[in-house]
Amino acid sequence: MNDEEAERAVAQALEVGYRLIDTAENYRNEVGVGRAIRTAPRDEVFVTSKFNKRWHSVDGVRTAFEASAEKLQVEYLDLLLIHWPNPDQDQYVDAWQGLIELRDSGLVRAIGTSNFKPAHLQRLIDETGVAPEVNQVQLSPVWAKAAERKFHARHGIVTEAWSPLGKGTDLLEHPAVQEIAKVHGRTPGQVVLRWETQQDVVPIPKSANRARLEQNLNIFDFDLTDADLAALSALDGTARPAADSDRFGH
Ligand code: A2P
Repeated sequence: MNDEEAERAVAQALEVGYRLIDTAENYRNEVGVGRAIRTAPRDEVFVTSKFNKRWHSVDGVRTAFEASAEKLQVEYLDLLLIHWPNPDQDQYVDAWQGLIELRDSGLVRAIGTSNFKPAHLQRLIDETGVAPEVNQVQLSPVWAKAAERKFHARHGIVTEAWSPLGKGTDLLEHPAVQEIAKVHGRTPGQVVLRWETQQDVVPIPKSANRARLEQNLNIFDFDLTDADLAALSALDGTARPAADSDRFGH
């Protein structure tokens, strides 16, 4: 979403009850997101951003924070993430040290990573003694990442899911998802998001459509059964690209 689209979508999201807003330097819409979040009291919104690889140094992270805070027009961020480990560049441990210092200064309340594999996380822990509070990864029933989630749980790391609806695959059309949705009188999207929340994954569903924003939030008044959960977990590894796949949105 560009600035205008993001402003409209975030304003609508806040209206219907969303409180966690997730953006990134790389999305180039922090100005629009900032305009929308200013319509709500600052302490009622949980604002996340992420920074690019050019800031992977102790001082660079401080500059990255200042740039995001300026665009968003906020004094502090609730969560700041290293967007990608970029292991070829191999400076993500420096970036992590920068984030630790930023958290100590109070400018960010929580710090974490995105798209880190367990080996990358282990290195952060080994070299700094500090584990991320959050790791945000591409996750849905077709990419369930059980081993990663287990690693996260062992280290107290919250798992967030990007593309939690399996964008780029035919997950929402899968007969198993459709069937469970029918039984519960819900939409396929709601069933998938519920699968995630019932195993302590925090989904970050994107929508620019008011009706879908509402349905994606209305998932806390029903429970999937153990059989439903197992049927959805069995979809792991079955992803097929959908016809309209746009797989590089992130
Ligand atoms: P829209 O914004 O028109 O609602 P991402 O993988 O980047 O999170 O994107 C999610 C995609 O899924 C968007 O294209 C969004 O389109 C669409 N979407 C969001 N919520 C639902 C839903 N409940 N059912 C079907 N599609 C959805």
